[in-house]
Amino acid sequence: MCGIFAYLNYLTPKSRQEVLDLLVTGLKRLEYRGYDSTGVAIDSPDNKNIVMVKRTGKVKVLEEAIQEHFSGGEYSEPVLTHIGIAHTRWATHGVPCERNSHPHRSDEGNGFVVVHNGIITNYNDVKTFLSKRGYEFESDTDTEVFAKLVHHLWKTHPTYSFRELVEQAILQVEGAFAIAVKSKHFPGECVASRRSSPLLVGIKTKTRLATDHIPILYGKDDKKLNPDQDADSGKQQVLPRSESTSEFMPLEEKEVEYFFASDASAVIEHTNRVIYLEDDDVAAVRDGTLSIHRLKKSLDDPHAREITTLKMEIQQIMKGNYDYFMQKEIFEQPDSVVNTMRGRVRFDGNAIVLGGIKDYIPEIKRCRRLMLIGCGTSYHSAVATRQLLEELTELPVMVELASDFLDRNTPIFRDDVCFFISQSGETADTLMALRYCKQRGALIVGITNTVGSSICRESHCGVHINAGPEIGVASTKAYTSQFISLVMFALVMSEDRLSLQQRRLEILQALSKLADQIRAVLKLDSKVQELAKDLYQHKSLLIMGRGYNFATCLEGALKVKELTYMHSEGIMAGELKHGPLALVDDSMPVLMIVLRDPVYVKCMNALQQVTSRKGCPIIICEEGDEETQAFSSRHLEIPRTVDCLQGILTVIPMQLLSYHIAVLRGCDVDCPRNLAKSVTVE
Ligand code: F6R
Repeated sequence: MCGIFAYLNYLTPKSRQEVLDLLVTGLKRLEYRGYDSTGVAIDSPDNKNIVMVKRTGKVKVLEEAIQEHFSGGEYSEPVLTHIGIAHTRWATHGVPCERNSHPHRSDEGNGFVVVHNGIITNYNDVKTFLSKRGYEFESDTDTEVFAKLVHHLWKTHPTYSFRELVEQAILQVEGAFAIAVKSKHFPGECVASRRSSPLLVGIKTKTRLATDHIPILYGKDDKKLNPDQDADSGKQQVLPRSESTSEFMPLEEKEVEYFFASDASAVIEHTNRVIYLEDDDVAAVRDGTLSIHRLKKSLDDPHAREITTLKMEIQQIMKGNYDYFMQKEIFEQPDSVVNTMRGRVRFDGNAIVLGGIKDYIPEIKRCRRLMLIGCGTSYHSAVATRQLLEELTELPVMVELASDFLDRNTPIFRDDVCFFISQSGETADTLMALRYCKQRGALIVGITNTVGSSICRESHCGVHINAGPEIGVASTKAYTSQFISLVMFALVMSEDRLSLQQRRLEILQALSKLADQIRAVLKLDSKVQELAKDLYQHKSLLIMGRGYNFATCLEGALKVKELTYMHSEGIMAGELKHGPLALVDDSMPVLMIVLRDPVYVKCMNALQQVTSRKGCPIIICEEGDEETQAFSSRHLEIPRTVDCLQGILTVIPMQLLSYHIAVLRGCDVDCPRNLAKSVTVE
């Protein structure tokens, strides 16, 4: 939710126009995180003020406004050192409008300006505290309190450094956030921090860095402001000052550029050297020097934050010849599934090694039950693989929506093994559920796509699905890669079960053919587009199936809903006669998945129930299955594979169908309304 991008050039001449270009490009890369309003803040040409531009709508609108306001003249003069901060928003507090767009300011003079991702949960208390001290608020956001709080602290503690002011403000706020702050009172400095929302620092230098680590410095206090303190008493509230150790060996380079961003896709075109900040890290740049501070020392803290080299390539985050990221990501699946298996599945020796969890396998085998927890599409990947996991692990498998799991205070035991499935690795509900299970002593396994994400770091062990960056808000290739990761896990768990060897072999052989079969399914694209033309003006689409394909129905319906704004429902075919059949008539669009597997006969019953109510379903069936095709003139044929992998092939026509309907309905495929890719609020 929301994208933060900040750029600081130290002794690296850049005109304000260039800085603005960098900020806008950074925001474009982060746009999938939120796209209802945007804004930037840079120094004014006389360096005495901060100027801000904010717009409602997408980054493109901001870009046009910037071109209009800041072209030529003094904005093209190079500046040696400068800081710009930028933001793309997904509204949580206050409707999307310029007034609520970030950056938010501390006062009319723009003394401190802040960009923020997440939610400050105690913002009302802080607002009351500040209102009593004469602050007036101009937005409906929680963020504004932070800017004003820093300003208040600056007035009451004039000797504090910028970093100390921000640290003290952080001590007063609760919730989940990532922030970056700029100030006209501290030119050339930038301070950023995170708690439960992602933030990283990219570092670009001309010469190789002298160090691979940034040492951590500590403060040592935790005192809260008292919102009820009498504002007029004239007494200054004394906040304790954080202290830092003296053996301070920060990263020091002559010419350096820093990038603060919500994720790596926004910095990769500038540098592949990044530091992933941890919760409560405060990163500060002063005189071109980056230092990382923590407010309190804890026993398991490392001494330094490591500079990581990103493996990502710039092409991976570009659209190439495709019209939309989602389209590109659907068509990448023959490769992404291979990348998920690469180095893990040995088809010649029929062996699977999952390096990230192999040491924990004996413990997992002894567990009481497996819990698979996620949201949205990630949850569907758990539904899709549950049956196979039950079969190959012979353990009870519970599949849970993270939000509901938390609402129920689900009992969790030390001998439970809990899988947290998340493309972004930052989804707040999933992360909260992870922490809940971790506190209760369960083994935590992360299944994530984003290296360095919170779920990845907070898990005891896990599997990176290696699908590559997924930018389209609707998840596609991450789903098939999560699916395969869980299948691989099931195969690892059954390695020494003699009675299951034939079944394992069958699955391994099917995995080896999967990439080519996905290519074959993708060839249905133009046929799916034709079907989309029949469907796009309808109000609803029912998607029916059962067994291994029920997850495809849920996932297909989710894709249709989020991309096309049409109503769609994934229906378990076994439930048809318990209610949903009432919806079926000659005008209701229905899609049914009927494959040659153990539930084929039952699916055929459902098909007949639909056709005998004058329903005319589109059928997804196996290549050459004329008997099934005889029930409808509209069908999509997919290659035959083993039952437990069918869901990978059947979901692709659903991805394509939702994509084409969305295009025909004129929807913004990559940025569906009201949604954002990384849901870092509960
Ligand atoms: C649907 C979609 C969402 C996500 C969900 C979880 O296309 O993308 O339903 O699957 O928000 O996100 P992650 O997987 O990042 O935890």
